[in-house]
Amino acid sequence: MTPLEAALAGVLLMLPALVPNSAAVLFGGGRPMDFGRFWRGKRILGDGKTWRGFFGGAISGTVLGFLLIGLSIGLNTEETLGYGDLPGAACVVLSLAFGSMLGDSAGSLLKRRLQLGRGDKAPVLDQYNFVAGAILMVLVFQPGWFFDHYVDGNGIFGLVLFLIIVPLLHRGVNIIGYKMGKKDVPW
Ligand code: CTP
Ligand code: MG
Repeated sequence: MTPLEAALAGVLLMLPALVPNSAAVLFGGGRPMDFGRFWRGKRILGDGKTWRGFFGGAISGTVLGFLLIGLSIGLNTEETLGYGDLPGAACVVLSLAFGSMLGDSAGSLLKRRLQLGRGDKAPVLDQYNFVAGAILMVLVFQPGWFFDHYVDGNGIFGLVLFLIIVPLLHRGVNIIGYKMGKKDVPW
């Protein structure tokens, strides 16, 4: 693959980790994941982390990933679409999608411990919590896949483009969520 191809493939393959963050804003609401409980005077996670958001997000990312796998099997080009054979491909997609929402929850856990309220700005942490969660999870369950696509060869171009795109998309989606009344702040 050329650097450009590797960069585009790198972003495409990460969609199951990207989509949950936006989908959570759309699906969010209802019972908070911490059931309103406190830890050391602060909410454990806060009202910005709900069960509907968590599963709405993780399942959206999973469905998208399975569609990409289905497409690649249908086109018989699993090499170029890059999740590889089942069941490993399903494991990659589930790790990316659920890891993304777990990272997002861990980010809020950390923010509350740092005395930051729901929606308060935490630069870097806000933008990359789900990226860290997704990558850590895939490193636990399918490390070979990550090295093949994001480290070896021109894979690093995929990782770099993905990391550049994340804060831009994050900002765009949050402005839309704010305008829709789903978020209290546009960041
Ligand atoms: N959301 C949700 N459940 C989740 C994740 C997100 O319901 N597990 C919804 C909430 O409506 C949340 C919005 O998506 O307000 C945006 O998510 P995020 O920016 O992560 O939450 P914040 O409200 O900023 O809260 P925090 O400070 O804890 O990050
Ligand atoms: Mg936020």
